[in-house]
Formats: sequence, structure tokens, C-alpha cells
Amino acid sequence: MSKLGTTEVLLNEKKLYKPSAKILKNAKVKQWKAVQAKAKKDPLKFWDDSAKELEWYAPWKQTFDDSNAPFFKWFVGGKCNIAHNCLDRWIGTPVENKTAIIWESDAGNKRKMTYKELNRAVCKFANGLKFLKVKKGDRVAIYLQNIPETAIAMLACAKIGAVHSVVYAGFSANALRERIDDQRAKILITSDVGHRRGKVIAMKELCDKAISGSQSIQHVIVVRQDGGHVPMKINRDIFYDALTDTQPSTCPTEVMDSEDPLFILYTSGTTAKPKGVVHVHGYMVGVHKTFQWVMDIRGDETYWCTADPGWITGHSYIVYAPFMSGITTVMFEGVPDFPKPDRIWKMIEKYEVNILYTAPTLVRALMSYGEKWPDKYKLKSLRLLGSVGEPINPEAWRWYYKHVGKGKCQIMDTWWQTETGMFMITPLPSMPLKAGSATLPFPGIEAAVVDENGKKVPVGKGGFLVIKTPWPSMLRTLFNNPERYVDTYWNKIPGYYLTGDMAHVDKDGYFWIQGRSDDVIKIAGHRIGNAEIESAIVSHKSVAEAGVIGKPHPIKGQCAKAFVILNRGVNPNDKLVNEIKRTIRSKLGPIAVVDEIEFVEKLPKTRSGKIMRRVLKAQELGEDLGDTSGLAD
Ligand code: WT7
Repeated sequence: MSKLGTTEVLLNEKKLYKPSAKILKNAKVKQWKAVQAKAKKDPLKFWDDSAKELEWYAPWKQTFDDSNAPFFKWFVGGKCNIAHNCLDRWIGTPVENKTAIIWESDAGNKRKMTYKELNRAVCKFANGLKFLKVKKGDRVAIYLQNIPETAIAMLACAKIGAVHSVVYAGFSANALRERIDDQRAKILITSDVGHRRGKVIAMKELCDKAISGSQSIQHVIVVRQDGGHVPMKINRDIFYDALTDTQPSTCPTEVMDSEDPLFILYTSGTTAKPKGVVHVHGYMVGVHKTFQWVMDIRGDETYWCTADPGWITGHSYIVYAPFMSGITTVMFEGVPDFPKPDRIWKMIEKYEVNILYTAPTLVRALMSYGEKWPDKYKLKSLRLLGSVGEPINPEAWRWYYKHVGKGKCQIMDTWWQTETGMFMITPLPSMPLKAGSATLPFPGIEAAVVDENGKKVPVGKGGFLVIKTPWPSMLRTLFNNPERYVDTYWNKIPGYYLTGDMAHVDKDGYFWIQGRSDDVIKIAGHRIGNAEIESAIVSHKSVAEAGVIGKPHPIKGQCAKAFVILNRGVNPNDKLVNEIKRTIRSKLGPIAVVDEIEFVEKLPKTRSGKIMRRVLKAQELGEDLGDTSGLAD
């Protein structure tokens, strides 16, 4: 953990953005203060009532169990399945004929699926998985882009009680292999190729590399995105269509315990090894409730979250939450500014999107092209805007508010994490907003900013953001590593969940997130560990040591810079810089771009030989070095 900053934090944004009378009139939660207070008084009752908004096969006997803390349990004894709440419950109701997914490809092709069609596809695929001998509890890795089959695969796994683990398609073969090995996945689902910015990505080829010699993978299921002209290994590989075509279009949904695992999602921590965050079926309760209230969900609307299903945002709020609410979700294979910066605005107009949920890095990129792009399109369908992934700077916030929302849409700056599963600090649409603040904890959530000893810091002072009490959509453990779960989240400040973020609270109780306090960088909202990048760099044969820091970047929020010591006798040159960049790409994938590499003779270290990234960073940014008594040299 880094030392607490002692400087007073400026509370620069005082202006309140109040909801219009129209927003207030229609908001699900009008009396937000009263709702907050009621949930605060009895959080268990709040979550108990929230759980009742979903369908269960059998009710729970106990709402919350902390007898084995921090391995908390929720809705103990309850029987459910999240896939039932996404699909089964709609079949035979008017929702079955509603559009569940609108999908657009990178090239601009369109596909639509109703709930009925989605359910059929999920059942067929679930039967296909069973045909391949996938059983309850088995792990299924999914390496796909943002295509309908990703959602179908996730739901099919949930339906039969298998545990899905989606690996973002921007990860390298190496990173995919590491994740598959850690969870010992039995099945890998991928596509022949993928598309991005007009380029073709050899997905299957990459998967073949990732699983060569794998002890666990028994079958690879390949979705044909482009004819399926890829080598297939006999008895191991099968095309998605060949597997599903002959399967029956109904499939019973497995009755799960609310504490049974639903998925594993790997995320970066402070060591080179990613953490397998485990979420359970009961996670549906918090995901549903937050979506309903924060996005103010109404029946017939279209919602677009521009994230990728490979991240938690995609799991909770592209796939599970929209389907549990029976609304239309947009899935998009491409990127919002390709082929031109108006792609996103064009799509909003075309699909009459009502709710747009995106990331600050994208807002800043779109802002840099100028408002002439959004101004060309009719964006009047927009009712609500969302932001997630990193702090949104007030300038970007105001641009988003003015030029996208035309001053009529409230901005939901939702703070949460892979581990939290659901929005944690977030406005409700009826609340007054401040540009750049994620506002207040969601009802039922108790957050605080504290010092190293867990003591609340005064108003306006920076400190560690913690969550004081458990919540239903929290991670249950780290796969195969319960010690790391306890250590990372619960032991550093005993009794509280440590988020890894720094924040401060203003006089109105509004939270301002300042960024990570640990050795994790957010590049364009993507989370990556300094140690992961360092370990990739030192795998290059000419490198002796490396220290990586995050630096402010005008569009990406943060970018990475590496300080590299070469082996004795190796001379620094541009060719080496490119080679090291290639090594990082092949170890981690295109998500871990390092913008700058500087060759150095020495790195600041502690007496025990640990690189002091804090000192490197302060030096680079010309800031005060802080306490350097630990420096060896
Ligand atoms: C980290 C979690 C949760 C979905 C996407 C990221 C940062 C996330 C915000 C926000 C300021 C934010 C934090 C957090 N973060 N949302 N609204 N304001 N910071 O999930 O990859 O697990 O990253 O993202 O630093 O700890 P993730």
C-alpha cells in the first residue's frame, strides 16, 4: 500500500447538476434520501426484499451468514439459477417476442434476436455442452469477441451449472494459457476469426497456441464468423453450428444453490499472477437491483453498454442485468470511432438507444474529435448516460453532459470493480450530481475513506477507500487461492474490504475517487498490474531488470512507462525498444501497451531488493520523493 498523501485535496467542483422535473417525475427512486436512510437502518431487509424481485426455485433460510468470515454467504439454502431469471421466466410472457440482442459487426452487418430465439439458442448450446460431457461445476473458457455467441455461451454454462470464464480477446495466447491452466478448463469456446478496426484477428490460431500441450482442455468449440477456414483437430475441435444444429431446442435449467459458482473472471493484482475472482449465482440479486435503480429501467427501452463481455462490466451489465430486466441490449463487435468518429452517434440514432453506458477514455477520445460529430446526429432518444472504469475528469463529464446528453440526461458515474460484481458508489437519477464525483454508496452499501489503521479521515482528506460491510454480489473467494483472497481484501485493514483505491469525501458526503493506491494501472480503463508488465519485460533475453509505472495520459487516463536495465554488455538501441514492446505484446496482448521505455543503469530499491515504483514515479513526474529512508542507495 502506498503512504497516504498529506496534501489537502481540492474540492474544485461545487456546482450541482439537478435532475429536471421530468426526470424526477419518472424516476423509480424519487425520495432517494429516504430510501438511503431506510436501507442503512436495515441493510439485510433491503437485500432480502431485493432478492424477492427475482424468481427462486426454493426460498433461502437465512439472508446472510458471517460465521466463517470473510467467506460470507448470502441467501443461504436458496435455490435459483441466474439463467432462469434471464430467460426461462420470460418464456410464455409478452417479453419473449421482444428483441433481446441487437448486434452490429465491425463491418456494419446487423443481427437481431428475440428472447424466444435467444432462449432456443441457449438451450441448443447447453445441450451441446452436455453432449461434450460438460457437468455441473466444470470450467468452460470463452475466448470470443463481443458477439451474440458470447452471451449465448455464458448463459448456456449458467443454465447447466458449468462455470464460465471469459478471457478478453485482447489477451495473448500466453495470457489465455495461464488462465486456462489455473482453472483447469475442460472446454474452450472461440471463433475462427475476429474483426476489429477492419482487421482480421486469427482467434482459432491463437487458441491452438494457447492450448498446445494443455492437460485439461478436451474440446474446442469454434464459432464460424468467416466460413470456418481454419485447421480443426480431429476429436478435439468442433464447429459451433455442427454441435448445436441437431440438438433439441429445450433444456432443463439446473437447480443451483445460491452460493454455487457462476463464473471465474481473472483480473490483475499487484503480483504477476492474475487473480481468479469467483462469483456465485446469488450475485444476481445485487446486479439486478443496481441496474433497475441506477439505470432507472423501464419496459421497452434499448440500452447500450460499450464495454466488452470479457470484463466484469460486460458480464454484469451487457449480459446478465439487461436480460434479467427483459430489455434490449446492444452488442457491438467493433470500436465506437471506426471507420469514422461518428460510428457511435450513428448507432445511437439508428437503434434509438435510450441508455448509453461507456468509459471516460472513450468520452475523452470522442471529445478530441470535436462536437461536430455528435451534432450531426439525432441523439434525442438518449435518456440516461453512464460512465465506468476510471475517474471521469470534470471536463470530460461536462462535455458528455452537454454535447451527448444535451443537458437533459443525468450521468451515472458508477464506481465498482471486478470483485464487487455490481455498482457500489453511484448516483441514482433523481440525485443532484457533481461533475467528477461518483456521489454516494448505493443503498445497503457502507463505504468509507480511512487511514492505515482503519480510522475515518476528515472531510476532504485523501485516504483508502473501504467497504465496511458485505454485499450480495461480492466475490466469494479467489479460485484456488483462498489465502490470497483473505490477504488482499480483508487483512490489510482488518474487518473492512479494501478496494485498492484512494478517495476523499466532501462535506456533502460525496465520494471522489482518485485512482489506485496499489501497484495496478488503469490503461484506457483496462486494469493491468505493474508486476505483470515487468515480468513480461524481463522475459526478454537482453533484460536484467525492469520497473513499470503508470503516468497520466490525456486520453487513456493512464499509460505505462518502463525503466529497463539491460544485461551487461548489451547496448540500448531502438531495435531493442521494439523487441521489448513485441515481447510484452506476445506475453500479455495488445491491452498492455507500454508507451515509453527508458534504459537506465540503476533502479531505486529497498534494502531487501524490491523496486520502489513510488520513487520512480515521483522522479518521473517531478514530484516530492516522499519518505526515502527505505532506499538502499
Ligand atoms: C477499478 C476496478 C467495474 C467495472 C470496470 C472496471 C476503477 C472503476 C470507476 C469510477 C473511478 C473507477 C477503480 C477500481 N474504477 N469505476 N466510476 N470512478 N474509478 O473494473 O477492471 O475491476 O477495475 O477501476 O480504480 O478499483 P476493474
